[in-house]
Amino acid sequence: LANGLAATPPMGWSSWNHFGCFIDEKIIRETADALVSTGLAKLGYKFVNIETLSSDDCWAEISRDEKGSLVPKNSTFPSGVKALADYVHSKGLKLGIYSDAGYFTCSKKMPGSLGHEEHDAKTFAKWGIDYLKYDNCNNDGSKPTVRYPVMTRALMNAGHPIFFSLCEWGDMHPALWGASMGNSWRTTNDIADNWDSMISRADQNEVYAEYARPGGWNDPDMLEVGNGGMTKDEYIIHFSLWAISKAPLLVGCDVRNVTKETMEIIANKEVIGVNQDKLGVQGKKVRMEGDLEVWAGPLSGYRVAVVLLNRGPQQHREMTARWDDIGIPPGSTVMARDLWQHKTLKQRFVDVLTATVDSHACKMYILKPIS
Ligand code: DGJ
Repeated sequence: LANGLAATPPMGWSSWNHFGCFIDEKIIRETADALVSTGLAKLGYKFVNIETLSSDDCWAEISRDEKGSLVPKNSTFPSGVKALADYVHSKGLKLGIYSDAGYFTCSKKMPGSLGHEEHDAKTFAKWGIDYLKYDNCNNDGSKPTVRYPVMTRALMNAGHPIFFSLCEWGDMHPALWGASMGNSWRTTNDIADNWDSMISRADQNEVYAEYARPGGWNDPDMLEVGNGGMTKDEYIIHFSLWAISKAPLLVGCDVRNVTKETMEIIANKEVIGVNQDKLGVQGKKVRMEGDLEVWAGPLSGYRVAVVLLNRGPQQHREMTARWDDIGIPPGSTVMARDLWQHKTLKQRFVDVLTATVDSHACKMYILKPIS
């Protein structure tokens, strides 16, 4: 969507994966504080217009007020959303919120925005909201291509630029139509904190690589890194694939209690750099040999990002990135930076780079032709 937002994929945090419906304004404030104190905000988990504190489903009362406005739940958001937005903005961060292109949100408790688009968009803008995630539950059966643009237009008229995240779950192939309506579109159903769920979302999202571009991104759902259901190597794969796929990097763990191990993953500047590269081209699988996959995508400055992924049970598999698979001119001599070891390899590579990759692990490089 040409609203001037999302030149690179959004980065931030969302409450849903860790907290579900159990959120309140204290958690949101403390999370804003934690994003700053951990240094995550500085790494981009707050970038102007595109980072998000996305308070997901369950923030509102079950009835609108007498003017037809959504009302923040008094029990959990007593200070109101405007005060929260002011607080979050004072930290240099942006505030996101959630609604639904149906009569009720997915939890079936909160009112949705169907039929109230103009009014709700104005309310969000008045509060200072910077990001709207728009779910698809409890709708009237009409096509999302009918319901979603009503909110797009309402947001465009609201007088405050708002990142618009289409949460249609991929059923009607939103990659094919989302770019004119939103800044990102979900290509999959909900992620869960386990290997099968994570890797299958990466696969489903990859199919739509051609449709991602600055201003509009494929969204394979939010990050589970730090929630405990996968091994460290699996979380490294999760973060590497989201990064190379130019997916939104919305952290979904409790950043107030983030471990060193989780920080090593979500605060990896070099991997974030791949995601936020200005070229904005989504990486793809360029070779699949059984359990072994090579993912690659071009970066600015003639560089290429590569992930060597071993999805299978066998340890120590030898894997090769070939220049003709990954889009480097044949005969080029290449310098390789290992993004998880944080090392530039001493060796120079011509035509191929070979490495050993363990079970459910990956290696990630930036390759730069030097001659
Ligand atoms: C479905 C969405 O896909 C999830 O990401 C989350 O927003 C829930 N709804 C909230 O009810």
